[in-house]
Amino acid sequence: MAAALTSSEPPLDSDRSFLRIRGGYPLSGELRVSGAKNSALVLMAACLLSRDSIRLRNVPALTDINGMADMLESLGGRVERHGDALELDGSGINCSAAPYELVNSLRASFFCIGPLLARMGMARVPLPGGCKIGSRPVEEHVKGLKALGAQVTIEHGVVTAAVPGPCRRLKGARIVLDCPSVGATETLMMAAALADGETVIENAALEPEVVDLADLLVAMGSRIRGAGTPIITIAGVDHLHGADYAVIPDRIEAGTFLLAAAITRSSLRVAPLIPAHLCAVLSKLEQAGCRLDHDDEGLTLSAERIIGVDLRTQPFPGFPTDLQAPFMSLLATAEGTSMVTEVIFENRLQHVAELQRMGASIRTQGNTAFVEGVARLSGAPVQGTDLRASAAMVLAGLAAEGTTDVYGLDYLDRGYANLEAKLNAVGAAISRCDPTLKAGASALAA
Ligand code: EPZ
Repeated sequence: MAAALTSSEPPLDSDRSFLRIRGGYPLSGELRVSGAKNSALVLMAACLLSRDSIRLRNVPALTDINGMADMLESLGGRVERHGDALELDGSGINCSAAPYELVNSLRASFFCIGPLLARMGMARVPLPGGCKIGSRPVEEHVKGLKALGAQVTIEHGVVTAAVPGPCRRLKGARIVLDCPSVGATETLMMAAALADGETVIENAALEPEVVDLADLLVAMGSRIRGAGTPIITIAGVDHLHGADYAVIPDRIEAGTFLLAAAITRSSLRVAPLIPAHLCAVLSKLEQAGCRLDHDDEGLTLSAERIIGVDLRTQPFPGFPTDLQAPFMSLLATAEGTSMVTEVIFENRLQHVAELQRMGASIRTQGNTAFVEGVARLSGAPVQGTDLRASAAMVLAGLAAEGTTDVYGLDYLDRGYANLEAKLNAVGAAISRCDPTLKAGASALAA
């Protein structure tokens, strides 16, 4: 029997652990893409909707996944990992209150509020709070749950939602989102799946992860139309049954790997990858001078000369905010100038200061960075300030002259499974260093 998936081991002193990257090596070969973190997390929450067991395949081995497993187990669920599959059993869900410390450490656990409310008729979930990239409000989630008939209060940092009336069942409604929030769209789809009657969500998010959730809910017996378009219709059902479902490939990890090939001026195959999930990114890579050769499972990116391009983050299918920082690392080494505008989050340019430490020539004005490409970045100790900024620093280190120490691995490990092992397998020179190792033991972990 596989061990239950819990992160009971004390966390690494990951604030001081770092990746030591010796730059300048060309890469070659193939990088395999794992399952999508931002899909797997919400699919795990959706399993709260059913008393039957659900098997999720192609689930990445990430600390965020362990955190969500801890959350589900705290509510009475069971989660077991068997290789890259999770067996989730929601039959024992006996609690509708999510613990503060788990929500505080993993924002995505706020996704549980929708299925808990639909399943139990009530839910108490702490506000996820902001993070370094922005305030991350949830008023669209709350507004939609109220439209579905829930009474919602927010007191002392906790969102308490309850469905009045004897049957304590949500009622279908028409909901118009003020902004195409991914999390709000997903939360409300899950809440509506067991509601009495039909729900229409307008101005819904179009991201592939929303479509992946809809596909799982349909596999569980839900009746959903329009996922991936601005109008999603959910006909509520009385109950949802078990399913065996594979998570889509992680488009953000795939994009990060393509950028690793581009920034080292190498040729790498990245697979599996669904081009339609990355259309804006692939277009910008070609505009910057990369050659893309598609095959039936992925694509090969080859790069010799990179020229600067302008980009502006947008909701899907526009350029994804999660690849803005990694792409800026590439532009810092391009010929010519680039203008990068971050529209989605209000504070997602913190990696600029770290790139400047490596010799990048970047000036910021409000939410826009003006990047003047330089011939070569120089290695330096740098700090990842969020998950994707940490990845951006790794990419910059691959191309830099000399050695780069990237701190902030607690962020990196949330979104990238075994990143250094994958990159070393195609020619990079990266070591994970844990200074807390006893003196005498090699500080350079294998
Ligand atoms: C999801 O976050 C992803 N996280 C994020 O990935 C991703 O960057 C983001 O979508 C945008 O694509 C997960 O899926 C776990 P939003 P989410 O609600 O759902 C504003 C990563 O690095 N907004 O679509 O929180 C909000 O302030 C992470 O993997 C409101 O104004 O994103 C933001 O500016 C980072 N009111 C914008 O919408 C609301 O009620 C997008 O937020 C909700 C959101």
